[in-house]
Amino acid sequence: METSILRVKNLKKEYSLGKDNTNLVIPDLNLEIKQGEFVCIMGSSGSGKSTLLYLLGGLDDPSGGEVFVNGHLMPSGQNENALFRRESMGVVFQHNNLIPGLNLLENILVAAFLVQKNRKEARQKAIRLMNELGIGDLQERFPAQVSGGEQQRCSIARALVNDPDILLADEPTGSLNSSSTEKVLEIFAELHSRGQTIVMVTHEIEAACYAEKVVYLRDGIFIDAFNMDRTSDRSKNEKALLGWLTEKGW
Ligand SMILES: Nc1ncnc2c1ncn2[C@@H]1O[C@H](COP(=O)(O)OP(=O)(O)O)[C@@H](O)[C@H]1O
Ligand SMILES: [Mg+2]
Repeated sequence: METSILRVKNLKKEYSLGKDNTNLVIPDLNLEIKQGEFVCIMGSSGSGKSTLLYLLGGLDDPSGGEVFVNGHLMPSGQNENALFRRESMGVVFQHNNLIPGLNLLENILVAAFLVQKNRKEARQKAIRLMNELGIGDLQERFPAQVSGGEQQRCSIARALVNDPDILLADEPTGSLNSSSTEKVLEIFAELHSRGQTIVMVTHEIEAACYAEKVVYLRDGIFIDAFNMDRTSDRSKNEKALLGWLTEKGW
């Protein structure tokens, strides 16, 4: 039986734009993601994809509604159980936000030390992840001393170091060249095949076809979902997805 790892219930996000003026970005969103699913969120620019990901990652508070992870209500408020959020969600951004003055290993350890008590184990875990992601030789390099793709692989390691229930990624390949893009997406595919639940925002059809399902948002509203045909090859899925997106007004 497939179980739901993430449940979004009547989620609402409204930004205040000063006195009596608000921007309703997500009116009332319901969404369910199953354990081990690799889901991609698509929608035109401004449709609320990043806003949704921030809410899922607990980086911003909803104006209404709830997010449940493994049946547990995600607490809101900056300090309310930040540990729960750090353990549940690992987040990768388009611009990786690595700390320039720390080397790659230290960047990963910063995230690990916020959650894990045993520093030796955290360090071993970080080094293992770096090796798995092909950046094992770059532990002592600073972010400015490695390529964009290597920086992004470091930020994936940082996101994974606390074994999050869900890996969230907002346009993770948006600023990478095509060979780095492919490497990062292959890493996502590998993580998914090992059971990692992934929610990725992208506007690239090629990237979306690494997922098994695409959720389409318009003005923060769930419009429809597209399931990849796993018996079909990637180029056929790309064509089918493009047709579907065009139909949705992408
Ligand atoms: N802090 C903010 N204050 C006010 N409006 C915002 C803020 N952040 C995003 N928005 C607005 O919310 C809408 C959705 O933005 P976003 O989630 O970034 O969309 P997407 O990632 O799909 O391009 C846009 O209209 C954007 O201008
Ligand atoms: Mg965005």
